[in-house]
Amino acid sequence: MPKIIIAVDGYSSCGKSTTAKLVAARMGYTYIDTGAMYRAVSLYFVQNQIPINHPKAVRDALDHIQIAFQINSGTGRNETCLNGLNVEEEIRKMYIANFVSEVSALPQVRHAMVAQQQRMGRKRGVVMDGRDIGTRVFPDSELKVFMTADTFIRAQRRQIELLGKGEVVGLDEILENIRKRDHIDTTRAESPLRKAEDAVELDTSYMTIDEQVEWVIHLADQRIAELHRKGHFKLKEK
Ligand code: DC
Repeated sequence: MPKIIIAVDGYSSCGKSTTAKLVAARMGYTYIDTGAMYRAVSLYFVQNQIPINHPKAVRDALDHIQIAFQINSGTGRNETCLNGLNVEEEIRKMYIANFVSEVSALPQVRHAMVAQQQRMGRKRGVVMDGRDIGTRVFPDSELKVFMTADTFIRAQRRQIELLGKGEVVGLDEILENIRKRDHIDTTRAESPLRKAEDAVELDTSYMTIDEQVEWVIHLADQRIAELHRKGHFKLKEK
């Protein structure tokens, strides 16, 4: 069965990663969480006190950063490793969320991550979630989904997620972080978050995760059938 690339972009806390992960599992595809990669870089910068306004220091640091994903045999979850160490839990904390937008706006960081993401998806059969997958990483992806949701609902979801991990954070602090991240993500010079012209928009404010997953899989099936009809896969195999 020929495989496609599904790009899932959008604002933070719209359910992108949960949806992308479940879609990938159902389709037998690989899930790649590109936000986790920017979070892992941010963690390295914090741990090693890298001055992010010094291009040479950033470049040297990037030479020492290796990011990989490994399946946790207990939970079956794909977890992020930084230089061989599992950092999945650490990169989800609030101090990283407060720093990651600045780090991910740095052109050197973006170039390094985009190159790695393109290598990871070159065989297709991936669901990749992020901010610039449909516009920059894989502008030729066969299906592009752009997720949005009401800001207040996003903050509530984020609060519940953090609570589940034992981190108690007030709604005001989360709202401020979300607004700040939205602003930096959409206004940065390098690959700002925007909906690709050919992306399909999904407002998840009042949808359940199951509904979101079904919606994406339905679109993916339609897209694959359409590409079959047009002989796209035969052309690619040649
Ligand atoms: O999806 P997330 O919240 O884990 O992403 C963390 C940050 O990384 C987010 O503020 C924006 C940035 N990011 C990005 O700039 N490009 C991507 N492809 C993915 C994430």
